[in-house]
Amino acid sequence: MVNKITVIGAGNVGATVANDVAIKNLAEEVILIDIVENLAEGKALDMWESSSIWGFHSRVKGVTNDYAASKDSDIIVITAGKPRKPGMSRDDLISTNAKIVNIIATELIKYSPNAIFIVVTNPLDVMTYAVYKTVSKYVDKPRTQVFGMAGTLDVARYKAFIAEALNVSPDNIQALLMGGHGDTMVPLPRYTSIGGVPLTQLMDKETIDKIIVRTQKGGGEIVQLLGTSAWYAPGAAIMQVVEAVALNKREILPVCAYLNGEYGYKDIYIGVPVILGKNGIEKVVEIELNEEERAAFDRSAEHVKEVMKVLDDMAII
Ligand code: NAI
Ligand code: 2OP
Repeated sequence: MVNKITVIGAGNVGATVANDVAIKNLAEEVILIDIVENLAEGKALDMWESSSIWGFHSRVKGVTNDYAASKDSDIIVITAGKPRKPGMSRDDLISTNAKIVNIIATELIKYSPNAIFIVVTNPLDVMTYAVYKTVSKYVDKPRTQVFGMAGTLDVARYKAFIAEALNVSPDNIQALLMGGHGDTMVPLPRYTSIGGVPLTQLMDKETIDKIIVRTQKGGGEIVQLLGTSAWYAPGAAIMQVVEAVALNKREILPVCAYLNGEYGYKDIYIGVPVILGKNGIEKVVEIELNEEERAAFDRSAEHVKEVMKVLDDMAII
């Protein structure tokens, strides 16, 4: 358990992750902040009123735009920003959300220069880069303390689809996925197993390929159904990352990390496996990729770079 976790944005994803980390008792205090008057206050009070039922004692509090309440946070989760609507890609959100995360990160870093920042706002890889650039203007922030959540969500979707196809329990599945959070993400069947048995021995290539495509378009599938993007699985996937840090679990999980030479890339945020612990990213894990996997990862990195260029051209940060 840590002292304070702050979640920015009390919308669908922010409220869900605040609720999930409270239920898991990951912090003494969970602070929820939103720009909309009384939204965070109302949702936080509602959560706190469930504490005796769930048996948690994390004190959940909501505030409107009051960043002083985030002072000395151990972990900060940024979910503020617009979600996409049907017909939009995550990249369409860039200019609105870059301005929002820039303002928010500028406030947060004043009060919690040593916090671990976990970015969720889309387009994820580039918004994580934007937060890192913003906070680096004010403090010498180690790259290991600013990262994005998407891989744990994407890999959870991949596992859910495999579990459905094989009629096995999702929590019996170990899997890995890399690349940007978008249609170019790279699920890795060679690094997927069920109870220790390689996926490739249990499923034919055609079915695996269909699951990979469904995973890559998993966010869009929910947008088509709901008219806005997902929140239950994203909230749980953020909680998994927060838990690894708060409990110093030293788990290997995919997160959106700043690369400084790893996988042959520099100055880019993209999804890779890392060891997560109390210091944030304890280590970027470099796995061996075959030709096909490497080409898919390179395609994904090229796409992330194109969106980074759009951000640079806007000169917001
Ligand atoms: P939402 O619209 O339900 O909530 C966003 C909240 O941010 C709203 O309550 C809004 O008032 C607040 N907000 C906007 N500007 C703010 C500011 N300057 N300060 C404080 N709060 C502010 O949207 P939802 O569904 O919660 O999604 C949030 C973001 O997370 C979107 O960009 C979405 O695309 C992204 N997302 C990313 C995922 C990932 O895997 N990385 C998964 C799911 C969503
Ligand atoms: C998702 O994949 C919207 O990025 C979000 O659900």
